[in-house]
Amino acid sequence: MITKPKGCIDITGDDSLLWEYVNDVVNTMMRTYNYEYIRTPIFEASELFHRSVGETSDIVKKETYDFKDKADRSLTLRPEGTAGVIRSFIENKCYHLPDIKKYYYNGTMYRYERPQNGRLREFTQFGVEVLGSNDPIIDAEVISLQYKILESLHIENLQVNINSLGDEESRQNYKEALVKYLEPHLDLLCDDCKERFKTNPLRILDCKTDATNEILKKAPKTIDYLNEESRKRFETVLKYLDILEIDYEVNPKIVRGLDYYDHTVFEIVSLDHNDTQQSVLGGGGRYNKLIKELDGPDSYGIGFACGLDRIIAILKTMDLYKDIKRQIEVYVMYVSEEEKLHAIDIVQNLRLNGVIVETDTLNKGLKGQFKEADRLQAKLLIILNNEDLKKGLVNVKDNATKEEEKVDISEIVEYIIGNL
Ligand code: HAM
Repeated sequence: MITKPKGCIDITGDDSLLWEYVNDVVNTMMRTYNYEYIRTPIFEASELFHRSVGETSDIVKKETYDFKDKADRSLTLRPEGTAGVIRSFIENKCYHLPDIKKYYYNGTMYRYERPQNGRLREFTQFGVEVLGSNDPIIDAEVISLQYKILESLHIENLQVNINSLGDEESRQNYKEALVKYLEPHLDLLCDDCKERFKTNPLRILDCKTDATNEILKKAPKTIDYLNEESRKRFETVLKYLDILEIDYEVNPKIVRGLDYYDHTVFEIVSLDHNDTQQSVLGGGGRYNKLIKELDGPDSYGIGFACGLDRIIAILKTMDLYKDIKRQIEVYVMYVSEEEKLHAIDIVQNLRLNGVIVETDTLNKGLKGQFKEADRLQAKLLIILNNEDLKKGLVNVKDNATKEEEKVDISEIVEYIIGNL
């Protein structure tokens, strides 16, 4: 038997219903906030991720799915969505259109990680990228949108952990302070961090090994090294979040695992489900240098991405979603070929009027069809028989009360809609 690749999932049955529901909520919220849907390829030139996510990031160093196509091009399955959106923005010269672009996306991402609860090799993210504005109101909008989507799914005790890396000058000052602080402790750092110390010392801050963790407790904090402008900017973002009544915690440990960030960085967790690193539901931040670094104009950007697989895993533990089942509204029953011709017509008319309807396609007898209607939890049954059809009538049965009524076939759609 051929099985699915390690770290991947199939979404089927009642799970897929939950996915459809969450996607509907996400899409509606995105439209309310005036975001435009964007779809970019699942694979891109490998160089795109090397130059954006960063050569020294764990993602590019260890986790990308790289391959050569038949023409010997180096391609990579996207490990995240931001780089592709910016590549498209630059390539299609969208910066010449309106001054600001607000994109949203929803799709699969690929990282060769050790699969575990909440950590997959193929996973789904929805996210946004806002390109063209440096106003802190956008930082607050993006954070609030992420928060409100999770809140509208009824996930409770949400908290945004927020930090600022500041502009280039602030980051440089911080980097120097961090290197100075870490140098005498180098021997005690884990092997990965010894390497990071040389290539990208900020990465050490989100190391997961205990020994390094102890040393990091007293490490300098990014917010203490912000220059005046960056500090004011961060304070304004927090002020706007207060107005939007978003719960946040300034957390100097948030530096994020991708290299492109500056200024605001954030992650969102539910305090009810906050036991491991895998419980981070989403994260993002500002990247005011990235568009230029990818050969675009000198413009601004900020975005977030949420892990849909993690969100669905939480929803599945909630009472609210326990009874979510695939249900239909009406089941149309028939036996003879003559009755079937009417069934085909009625089913189509009901579907075109937005009623969820099913009928027999397996030549089951009436008993079997009653059973199937119960399994699908149909509310109403339309039972066709030749005798009534000759008089222009059909039988409609309420599957809960078992009450039956004869309805004129020409009025069946209105009757069903009125009785659902
Ligand atoms: P990220 O923090 O790498 O950010 O991923 C965002 C979210 O995707 C995580 O918080 C998590 O919920 C989910 N996620 C990440 N890896 C996995 C995995 N292996 N299995 C399941 N879920 C996962 C980004 O990807 C940035 N592009 C976000 C961003 C957008 N920054 C600016 N704009």
